[in-house]
Amino acid sequence: MIKLHDKYFKPFISGKEIDDAIQRLATEIAKDIGDEIPVFVGILNGSFMVVSDFVKKYPKPCEVTFIKLASYEGVKSTEDIQRLIGLTQDLTGRTVVILEDIIDTGNTLHEVHRIFKNEAVKSLKIATLFYKPEAYKKDFKLHYVGIEIPNKFIVGYGLDYNGLGRNLTDIYKIKETQHMTNLVLFGPPGAGKGTQADFLKEKYNLVHISTGDVFRFNIKNETALGMLAKSYMDKGELVPDQVTIDMLNAEVEKNADANGFIFDGFPRTNAQADALDKLMDSKDSQINAMIALEVEDEILVERLLSRGKTSGRADDADESIIRNRIAEYYSKTAILKDFYSEQKKYFGVNGVGSIEEITERLSAVIDNL
Ligand code: IMP
Ligand code: MG
Repeated sequence: MIKLHDKYFKPFISGKEIDDAIQRLATEIAKDIGDEIPVFVGILNGSFMVVSDFVKKYPKPCEVTFIKLASYEGVKSTEDIQRLIGLTQDLTGRTVVILEDIIDTGNTLHEVHRIFKNEAVKSLKIATLFYKPEAYKKDFKLHYVGIEIPNKFIVGYGLDYNGLGRNLTDIYKIKETQHMTNLVLFGPPGAGKGTQADFLKEKYNLVHISTGDVFRFNIKNETALGMLAKSYMDKGELVPDQVTIDMLNAEVEKNADANGFIFDGFPRTNAQADALDKLMDSKDSQINAMIALEVEDEILVERLLSRGKTSGRADDADESIIRNRIAEYYSKTAILKDFYSEQKKYFGVNGVGSIEEITERLSAVIDNL
């Protein structure tokens, strides 16, 4: 992954794939043009790499020139195309091939056609290395297309984000969501998860998603998903993972600009961990770590019993219930420890000590991710 200005980009198309596509274009175009000497017209700035590599692969004599147009601001194409350098030579009677790095909305291409309308060229063909069919809004024929790509912002190989990225030899795609620190917080009852989650979310500007809270919120507000979940609960059945995932998805989408998330109470099974990975992946994101607070059973029992004296929570008052909850935690979560260990994402943190000490231990893990 790379960062240009404020945005993250991830590898998308390799230099090798680009090279192959340009080779195909050169071969195909040379075959169509035959023995005539074409003039290749690159559209600056973006096309300088394409033109350079293309003409090196072009198997016959050719001429090269450039015009310079500008349309992009940041990551958005604008209608207002500026003509910075126009045609500087007479192309009457010539076979002209426009070489573009990328065709997006087609606004730039429209301007190219306007420039050539009054030139009595013999033929005008359009070739582009990249093409975004979903973004294209014009009717002009594209004669040669290297690689079709989805309607996502890319950089590299001549293409820039506010000036940066043109020099990269591979193509990178923008990360749709920029959240960088996504944690699954784990710990047996009484380990201090809630307390620590509150500190971490402040310190790292994360959104805390507690599955229990999300369920209660959806049911209380009678959202469609809440009602669906309730219908299973009323029958005494487990809520299917997909319903929970859909609720989490809604939470993640609500916070698209977040720095990251702390998942608390989810996943609890391998299937759920898989589903969570898929959810994050669909958001161009990932779980970075599962952090488990480790506390000995005897200390947990002690903590919970003393909490029960003040909180009035019935399940904190009875020692055998407490021991059962702890045992259940270990029997269920051992599998998840394996799941995340395999991905080298499991971090056990000693949960015994002062609140500050534990926060420091957690921060050390997060800062190292
Ligand atoms: P169009 O006028 O919308 O077709 O856009 C064409 C111009 O916008 C290209 O020549 C590029 O300079 C720029 N552009 C379009 N899409 C991208 C992209 O994904 N990354 C970087 N520049 C782009
Ligand atoms: Mg361009």
